[in-house]
Amino acid sequence: MTLQQHFCQCVWLIGAMAGLSGCLSLERAAPPVEQLKGTEGVAERLNLAMARDIYITRCAQCHEVKPVTEHSLPEWEAILPKEAEKAHLNAAEAESVRAYVLQVLRNGPAPEVKALDKGKGQL
Ligand code: HEC
Repeated sequence: MTLQQHFCQCVWLIGAMAGLSGCLSLERAAPPVEQLKGTEGVAERLNLAMARDIYITRCAQCHEVKPVTEHSLPEWEAILPKEAEKAHLNAAEAESVRAYVLQVLRNGPAPEVKALDKGKGQL
């Protein structure tokens, strides 16, 4: 193998690792809808997927993507109206984000993702 080929392989590997860890932490903070149990309906999944998009974009304009499981349901009920207003969400968008948060709290990410979270100690 030439030196150049070797270099390319290293760059590719580092890139792949960085990309993977980036995805993993976002997946932990805001689990993709396909990881949530109990969301079989097409319309529900679409709505939740749209809500997650809002959550990881418009809700991350001022701060990082806040891990959903960092707050309990009662905490979220107090936080969401304030934050939805900050993000200028309309009523439908705010309701969708609320549904997404509820779904993550109730049906959680897949068990292996939860296990990773525990290993980390904090999120
Ligand atoms: C206009 C800026 C802005 C937008 C948009 C925004 N936030 Fe925030 N948010 C803040 C600030 C400022 C704080 C307080 C500092 C911090 O905790 O980072 C905060 C705090 C939070 C907290 C922690 C609250 C606590 O009491 O510990 C959560 C959770 C949160 N935001 C979620 C969201 C969600 C969900 C959305 C989208 C609906 C959102 N934020 C949109 C500015 C914003």
